[in-house]
This record gives sequence, C-alpha cells and structure tokens, in this order.
Amino acid sequence: MTDLTHRLIVGGELSDDEWRYLIEGDYEKQLLFNEADKVRRWHYGTDVYIRGLIEISNFCKNDCLYCGIRRSNTNISRYRLTGEEILACCEQGYALGFRTFVLQGGEDAYHTGEWVERVVAGIKEKYPDCAVTLSLGERPREDYERWHQVGADRYLLRHETASRSHYEKLHPPGQSYLRRMECLRDLKQIGYQTGAGLMVGSPFQKTEELIADMRFLQAFQPEMVGIGPFIPHHDTPFAGEPAGSLEHTLTMVALTRLTLPKALIPATTALGTIHPQGREMGLKAGANVVMPNLSPVNVRGQYSLYDNKVCTGQEAAEGLAALKESVAQAGYRVVESRGDAVQTS
Ligand code: 5AD
Repeated sequence: MTDLTHRLIVGGELSDDEWRYLIEGDYEKQLLFNEADKVRRWHYGTDVYIRGLIEISNFCKNDCLYCGIRRSNTNISRYRLTGEEILACCEQGYALGFRTFVLQGGEDAYHTGEWVERVVAGIKEKYPDCAVTLSLGERPREDYERWHQVGADRYLLRHETASRSHYEKLHPPGQSYLRRMECLRDLKQIGYQTGAGLMVGSPFQKTEELIADMRFLQAFQPEMVGIGPFIPHHDTPFAGEPAGSLEHTLTMVALTRLTLPKALIPATTALGTIHPQGREMGLKAGANVVMPNLSPVNVRGQYSLYDNKVCTGQEAAEGLAALKESVAQAGYRVVESRGDAVQTS
C-alpha cells in the first residue's frame, strides 16, 4: 500500500488494478488515513479552515435525480434570501471569526449575473479581508467572469462523476456532462480557485467510476475537492437507494489528499450526517476544512439536499465554540483566516 501511496504523492500514474486495490482492497484503511494525515500536516500543519456557508436559495431549475431540491420536488417550500439578508449573515459570521463566505444555492433564474455581481461587490466592499466563494451551478462564462472581476475568489462546482455514462444515469437528458466539464474549465481559466467533487456510493457507481474520478482530479488539479457520501432523499427517484458508507467515503478523502497534497478538502456536512463523528474522522483522513452553516435559522430545514441533513449544533455557525473544541479533541486547530490553498510550485 505505501509503495502505491508514495507514487501518488509524487504525481505518478497508477494502473486500474492499483487504483482498484487502493479503493476497495483488503488492507487496513487506517494506515491509508494515517498516510493522508501525514501529507496534510506537511502542508497545513494542524490548521483547520472554516467557511461560513450561506444557502441563498433552494429554487432550482435542474432535476438531478439524487437531490432533494430538484425542480420536480413539489413537497418542499422554496425560499430565496435577499441581498440584505445575505449581508446580515456575513455580519454575524464576521463577528464569529469567519473570513470566507460561501454563497451556495440551487440554479435559481432569479439570480441574474447582475444580481449576484451586486451581492458579491457588496460583501467585498464591506469585508475586503474576506474571501468569497460561489457555488451557484452552471452559468454562462460571462457571469463567471463578471463575478470574478468584482472579487469572487473561489467557485465550487462538483463534477459529481467523471464518467459520462454514469453522469447520464444521475441526471435527466437536458443536463450535460460535457457542459459541466466546460464550466469547470472556464472557472479555472478565469482564475478562480476551483472546487470539484463527488458523492461516494451514488446509485450505479462502481469502482470503475471512482477510478475515473481520481484520474480526473489528478488531471484537472482543482484547488478544492468536496467529497461526501450519497444520502437518499425521500422525495427523489433515488429514495430507496442505500447511502454511501463511512469507510468508503473516508477512503476517497484520503486518496484525494494523497493525489492533491495541497488541496483544500472539507470534512463535509454529509459525512457529519451519516456518523456523529464523521466530520472528525474526515479531518483525520486528510480533510482540512469545515463549513458550518451561517444561513438564517428559519430557512435551514428547507435546504434539504438529502434526508436528516445536520444543520444545528456543531454544524451551525452558532456552534463554533463546540466545533473548535471537537476539532481540538481530534488533534487539530481551527484558525481564523481566509484559508487559501498553499501555492502550488
Ligand atoms: N446526497 C449527498 N450529496 C448530495 N448532493 C446533492 N444531493 C445529495 C444527496 N442526496 C450534493 C451534490 C451537490 C452538492 C451541493 O450536494 O454533490 O453538488
């Protein structure tokens, strides 16, 4: 195993069989997690970066088969924050010590290029020492450009799966794998710190797909990678599908750390949802970011991507003191900084 992980760290290529062994082989996974933790400590020490997550809208024009806020789900009530409400979240977050704000939402047609531009400019004007991350889905390149021009620093757009045929099983015909990949390339070219990512254990996913994901990450070199287990949502076509497992997700987190030693990798909310210590285990397997929820408390339940999504306690910005304590218990330290990726040489 360590022979393979050392090759990964120096950017080496692995054969299908070698990847297959790392992903699903019969070896002690704790050893892999320890290797990943060693690599994260080379570059980031024990620092854990925090991001204040603001879920700005749960309107979505897409119909991803796995997602609870898909267009076809008529059982949820939809909400959209105003610019003022978003700024109020930032104000609260700033006082708590957050220096990155993540504006995440469904693909909401109300969010014109100009509307988002105004909100981003407003945040950057008031908090010039903070990073703004956007996570608003697929947009025309011009939108990405104008938002970057007014100061948006980072963009999260999970690729979801690097296999075209698999992508087509998770999305309806109008949603295109090639378009997704084009958006990711645009974002990187424009100069965003770009985040890709995937769900582990999504329906129809086999080891083959995960190998394609790892090779995609190796080639694309995103600055950020979000990895969480698939968790079924009761109002979607995948309601009856099993959730991804904890160990499998941690394995993919660790392999991602080894493949992209300097990446920003969150211990995701989904990981914290499938196991009470999931987030801490993610940190110990190579993750170095946590994203507590800064959304107004009254809308949090409505941003229901999957069932039982945790949004209170340590998942919430108000739980920051408790979060700091459990991060410390795990052997790390929450730092109050923008938390940019260390420069790739
Ligand atoms: N389980 C886990 N993650 C999900 N996402 C959407 N639906 C689910 C689900 N059922 C993830 C997707 C998306 C991100 C915002 O949330 O990967 O990119």
